[in-house]
Amino acid sequence: MIVVPNGNTPNEALEETMKPYVLPDLGYDYSALEPHYSARVLELHHDKHHQAYVDGVNATLDKLAAARASEDLSAIVGLEKTLAFNLSGHVLHTLFWTNLAPDGNDRPAGDLAAAIDEHFGSFDACRKQLSSAASSVQGSGWGALTWEPLGERLFIEQIYDHQGNVGQGGVPLLVIDAWEHAYYLQYENRRADYVAAIWNVIDWTDVANRFDHARGRVLIPGNR
Ligand SMILES: [Fe+2]
Repeated sequence: MIVVPNGNTPNEALEETMKPYVLPDLGYDYSALEPHYSARVLELHHDKHHQAYVDGVNATLDKLAAARASEDLSAIVGLEKTLAFNLSGHVLHTLFWTNLAPDGNDRPAGDLAAAIDEHFGSFDACRKQLSSAASSVQGSGWGALTWEPLGERLFIEQIYDHQGNVGQGGVPLLVIDAWEHAYYLQYENRRADYVAAIWNVIDWTDVANRFDHARGRVLIPGNR
């Protein structure tokens, strides 16, 4: 048995240092996004659905630790798939809550506005493409505005579930949840109406801040 300096096995040492994922608090009240996003939908979405992904990623990490400890990795395919699903669900919901604000701005300004004009032609063209991507996901998924650091480009991506159909390395800047749990209680089958309403509560200051940080990301050191 390998023993690390404090006398624990490697798995015990990891468990001591690795914190579980936790559900972040919202930065606003449940009713703050009304009438565009109802308090009840937001409460259920955050407290129940997002919490389930947090619980899911922690449970999967525990199962992976147990698999390593027992040296039985026969369930690795399912565990890795479940890990990607729940971790991505947690990440995207965490971004989604910060992308929204009661006093959302009408449109981006500054460098982000210039980059959107450069890569999509205009803000209206960008909004139309992102709305279309979110509204037309087959099954469950998301629409996302992302920064691709290798080509230094903005992209709009259509994400399946929480983790499929995306280019590697992209940094999500603005995400729109298109799962039925995100809107059905308020908008029923009118997903496009929900997506149109969400544009009223986008916090472009948050998106621009995320863009500024993403632009500093170097995917391959020394490549540029
Ligand atoms: Fe969701």
